[in-house]
Parts: sequence; C-alpha cells; structure tokens
Amino acid sequence: MQLNIYKNYQELSEQVARQILQQVIDKPEAVICMASGDTPKLTCQLLAAMAAKEGTDFSRATFIGLDEWLGIPPDNTGSCHYFLHHYLFEPLRLATGQVFVFDALTANPAKACADMDAVIAEKGGIDLMIVGIGMNGHIGFNEPGVSFNLHAHVIDLDETTITVGQKYFAEPVPLSQGITLGLQHLLDARKAIVIANGAKKAGIIYKTIHNKIGNDIPATVIRLHNNGEIAIDEEAASMLTR
Ligand code: GLP
Repeated sequence: MQLNIYKNYQELSEQVARQILQQVIDKPEAVICMASGDTPKLTCQLLAAMAAKEGTDFSRATFIGLDEWLGIPPDNTGSCHYFLHHYLFEPLRLATGQVFVFDALTANPAKACADMDAVIAEKGGIDLMIVGIGMNGHIGFNEPGVSFNLHAHVIDLDETTITVGQKYFAEPVPLSQGITLGLQHLLDARKAIVIANGAKKAGIIYKTIHNKIGNDIPATVIRLHNNGEIAIDEEAASMLTR
C-alpha cells in the first residue's frame, strides 16, 4: 500500500483529479467509482475544469456511485445522487447511459444491489475507485463490523454515521440505512485510493494505518489491496508523525 501526503486539500485534490483524468486518457472506456461527500468535492470540481481545459474525451467512460442514503430522494441536495450529478456527471457532460447510481427510493433494494453488481461485472470491473473515509473508519457505507467479502448490500447505519451525516442536509433528516458497494468491490478494483483531508480525520487515518487489519476499522481493508493508496493532506497525516 502506498501512502501519499500532500501539503493541503488543494494539492491532494489536484493529484487525485489528475489520476482520474490520466485513467481516462490511458483507457477511454475506464470504469470509475466515485464517493460523494466533502472530501471529493474539490477533486470533482478540478477534474471537470481539467477535462474542459484539456478537451479530454469522457464519452466512453463509465461512472459508478459508491453509495446512497436509503429513502432519501435524489433531488434532496444532501443525497449522493445530487452530489454526483451536480459536481461530476453534469460538468463532465456524461450521458445517462454512462452513469450508474443506487436508487434510494427503490422498492427492491436487493435487486438494486444485484443490478449494480451485474453492471460492474458486465463492464469488466472497476478500474479506479476513489473513496472517502468516515469518522468511524467506514468506506462507502461499509460500517464497523461489516464483512470484507461483500459486494453491493444494504446496511443499518452506525450511530456515528447518522449523526455526522446530518452535515450534508439543509434540514435534519431521518437516516437509518445505506445502500453501498461492498469492500469486495474495493479489493477487486484495479486501483483503489482512500482520500482524507483535515485535522478531524487525523485520528481515524492513524488507526487505518497502524491498527490491526480488521472490520472494526473497515478502511484497514486498503492495506490488503495490492494496488491500494492512501492519499491525504498534512492535517489528516498529523498524528502519523507523532
Ligand atoms: C459518508 C459517505 C462516504 C464518504 C464518507 C466521508 O457518510 N457514506 O461515502 O466517503 O462518509 O465523508 P466526508 O468526505 O464528507 O468526510
């Protein structure tokens, strides 16, 4: 596993955006999985700007949304759907057939999971997976205690996730379950990058790197990946040097 520490959020985001762009230049039909959330926001914005400036052709790429709050409508500005469309899919002018996200309002979540697994398999697997990390060490909605070997699944959200998750919403919302790609998807991806910025992530980044690998800190799974990377800024790295 590779650890890259960048000076600040801007530099981190530039490097990650550059890696996504390069992936699409190297393999125009690449399959890319993106997290939503505060961490990848600047990456998305910079990627869209770089792609426009450099005229990169994204028309053959496929984008997969990492996760979603079950029951939250797509037009809610706190939904992952809204984030990905607003910050990534629309700025990159992706066609409907190029993007796959979970339907939070589905009457059949098990089918939604099976469909997502099937899309990823049909497209030949994920080339590049960019994920954030929750304050409890979750990846997507793979909460503490989750099996490392799951594909897409529905999960009861951890108390920390329910509390922290309110930050995305204009008004308080009831959050109870998530629908998410599994950690097996991350292990199967050809390249996986965990990104984190800010001092508030320093503690969980320390644990991700130094704790025993296990599902009490799901993000430790990145250390099992043969092409895994942790990309963070100096603030998120601040406990590593102590
Ligand atoms: C959220 C999402 C994850 C995200 C993580 C970190 O709850 N389920 O996909 O990566 O927590 O979020 P943030 O980047 O806002 O800190």
